[in-house]
Amino acid sequence: MIVLVRANTIGHVQVMMIVHVKTLIKRIPGVERVAQALGLAPDGERPWLLEMLPKDSVGAEIGVWKGDFSDRILKAVHPKQLHLIDPWRHQSSPVYKYAWYGGLAKNGQDEMDRHYAAVCTRFDPELRRDQVKIHRGFSMDVLRQFPDNFFDWVYIDGNHMYEYVKKDLDLSFRKTKAGGLVAGDDYVGGQWWKDGVKKAVDEFAKNQAVQLVELRDRQFVFRRK
Ligand SMILES: C[S@@+](CC[C@H](N)C(=O)[O-])C[C@H]1O[C@@H](n2cnc3c(N)ncnc32)[C@H](O)[C@@H]1O
Repeated sequence: MIVLVRANTIGHVQVMMIVHVKTLIKRIPGVERVAQALGLAPDGERPWLLEMLPKDSVGAEIGVWKGDFSDRILKAVHPKQLHLIDPWRHQSSPVYKYAWYGGLAKNGQDEMDRHYAAVCTRFDPELRRDQVKIHRGFSMDVLRQFPDNFFDWVYIDGNHMYEYVKKDLDLSFRKTKAGGLVAGDDYVGGQWWKDGVKKAVDEFAKNQAVQLVELRDRQFVFRRK
């Protein structure tokens, strides 16, 4: 935004310099994600993934937080039904010191309750017309309540610890139709969740019933055969 305002009032050389500086900044590893977390940049990592999700489909997002990606799913995919699954439960264990729902949520459970309430308000129109369903609970418990072969796709972005991702993958596959997609975020090592997502995804890729169709921008996408 700042760049646009200034570009209206300054000359060509300055505009070129700003573009050059922006290009250099973009090359810093992880900078886009930090900018997104600070609300300074649109989520640039996942547009291709949104394009892979079929329109007018039935899908689920595991791990909703403030609903930013849910909102993008609604706008890009126009799902027939979107199930949002999140316990909005604060985790005080030291393991979660650097998690958004652990140590980074400075106001503990109050903060999580506020996020939940804000998501309900944010998607009120979609909730009223039954396009969005909010399930406040752990993915393991919520997913089990759906029939097998129910979803066209599931996006996994909840607890990134290995055992949780493994269970999310297993259950999501069972609940997704043949030909459907199971995707997720943060296929990357060296974070607070260690290599939890990578390990679970790499193991899962060996499953004969699935095809790994994309591994890009920290995202993974499997297709159920
Ligand atoms: C990184 S945030 C999700 C961000 C969101 N997908 C987005 O891109 O805007 C992780 C979320 O996972 C939720 N979560 C943690 N454990 C979970 C579990 N077992 N099942 C479902 N959600 C979980 C947390 O409450 C938190 O809101």
